[in-house]
Amino acid sequence: MEIKEAAVTRIYARAAPSSSSSSSSSSLLMCNQRFRRQSCASPPPCAPTVATSAGSRHFPILHAARIHQGRCAPEQRSKHQNRRPPKGQDERRHGDPAPGRHPSGHAQQGTGTSNHKPGEVQKHLEPFRLSLEKLQDVSARLRKDMIRGLGKHSHHRASVKMLPTFVRATPDGTEKGDFLALDLGGTNFRVLHVRVLEEEQRVLKMDSQICAIPQDIMLGTGEKLFDHIAACLAEFLDSQKLRGQTLPLGFTFSFPCEQKEIDKSILIRWTKGFNCSGVEGEDVVNLLKEAIHRRGDYDISSVAMVNDTVGTMMSCGYRDQSCEIGMIIGTGTNACYMEEMKNVKRVEGEDGRMCINTEWGGFGDDGCLKDVLTEFDEEVDKTSINPGVHTFEKMISGMYLGEIVRLVLLKLTEEKLLFRGCPSEALLTPGSFETRFISEIEEPDSGLENAKKILTKLDLDWDLVDACVARLVCDTVSSRSARLCAAALATIVNRIRINRGLDHLKTTVGVDGTVYRKHPNFSDELQAAVRLLAPKCDVTFLISEDGSGKGAAMVTAVAQRLALQSRLLEDSDGEDEEEEEEEKCDANI
Ligand code: GLC
Repeated sequence: MEIKEAAVTRIYARAAPSSSSSSSSSSLLMCNQRFRRQSCASPPPCAPTVATSAGSRHFPILHAARIHQGRCAPEQRSKHQNRRPPKGQDERRHGDPAPGRHPSGHAQQGTGTSNHKPGEVQKHLEPFRLSLEKLQDVSARLRKDMIRGLGKHSHHRASVKMLPTFVRATPDGTEKGDFLALDLGGTNFRVLHVRVLEEEQRVLKMDSQICAIPQDIMLGTGEKLFDHIAACLAEFLDSQKLRGQTLPLGFTFSFPCEQKEIDKSILIRWTKGFNCSGVEGEDVVNLLKEAIHRRGDYDISSVAMVNDTVGTMMSCGYRDQSCEIGMIIGTGTNACYMEEMKNVKRVEGEDGRMCINTEWGGFGDDGCLKDVLTEFDEEVDKTSINPGVHTFEKMISGMYLGEIVRLVLLKLTEEKLLFRGCPSEALLTPGSFETRFISEIEEPDSGLENAKKILTKLDLDWDLVDACVARLVCDTVSSRSARLCAAALATIVNRIRINRGLDHLKTTVGVDGTVYRKHPNFSDELQAAVRLLAPKCDVTFLISEDGSGKGAAMVTAVAQRLALQSRLLEDSDGEDEEEEEEEKCDANI
């Protein structure tokens, strides 16, 4: 059994990538394959030592071919057709031919035969494989869009918004105090009490509370959403005995906002499954304050608005002061970085730097990525609640990856390359293939077993080759996501290097998000591709510890420090003049 698995897995893991890859592109592909081989070839299923029976050790592919032919022969199948073992004892889970009926007991819609043709499967996966040249080209397009987004007159037609955040500095280690933080951007809403300690250079999360945001609120009125937020905050203040204190509040609101000041933030549009009416075009801080006033039982003091990328950068900046980029690869994807003020044409002032929220998820909304999109991406976009919006994000982030995989599996089933041509009800249901399944299926050791469990859970009539193909599909889709992210991040680090006129840049990226954190080799693949796409940059990746919570507190703390400093500066500015005046006064007397 293990021998069969090893051999079949190897065939699908080795499937040849694009014939169009040139030498440099193949280096990226090879590097990708290396990771893939690591994940596929790791024991127990694929290690050579497993293949111990005579003949299979040295000729695993031939052996697999034998298994393959045996498994798909129609005459063999018909013998098994009416001998389905009871559920739970299905011997097909050990790689034997499947009976001709759907596991649910329904009659099959397909022919009941599957043609396991690696070449055919590869043909369908080919559009997901992006050569190094293609990634460089994507990076060049993003660079152009970023410049357009920064321009005073061109920004309104830019799909990459490049939003000024009014965060002008990263932490310097002197920040301190107690803060409240709100975090809205995924499926849950969080309220936190955070303490920043100056002496120990530490950010402590004192307490936090999670409130679910039900679907009807995510898609209801803005008033209902903000009332819900205000109610959660009230509950938290009570539980923490904080009512009556007026702590500064950092609000991580992870949607594209046109920020006018640190406490004035206009929502441009909803993304990631939210679509509350009456919020786009409005100041989010006002909506929050109005909801709190409607209750009338507590109040808040100053508010600093923060995108999650900025919180991530700031929370890492506290630990590593060369952290000047924040990146999220979770439900959505986005990045921010410190840009030279002279390039931020929409904000007055030439000196220093400002953090720019790129909103790179919108890259491609003007159609510039048409050649990169697959038919599956187009389908995901068409059936989303916001067609035409956040094209780049829909190829990369956790909200969409599972659905892309489902559509590919469905296509391969329709083409009779999988599951004997029979999709299950579950496979036909949008959203049924969760993104976390991809990580589970790609686990180096337990991946194949996980694939089998997941396919069973999806009520699919699978065999061993199907499980391997499902693994290959997950691998291909997540790999494209990692490389596209790498292309975008390379654009940013290359830009920072050139901005500063450096031959070599050493920098740190603060990262967060479930896809980056949970996928077994996403981060390795992303980092390897960044090395190829930004060879003159030495990039360190630092996983953020709760950027949306602690980072928001940090932004608030830095904003307070800067406000204090500028107030002190004004004070000392006036000091000389005052002394002169006093002297003049004295002389007159
Ligand atoms: C979406 C939002 C963006 C956020 C990202 C990650 O792309 O538009 O603001 O940073 O998701 O959460």
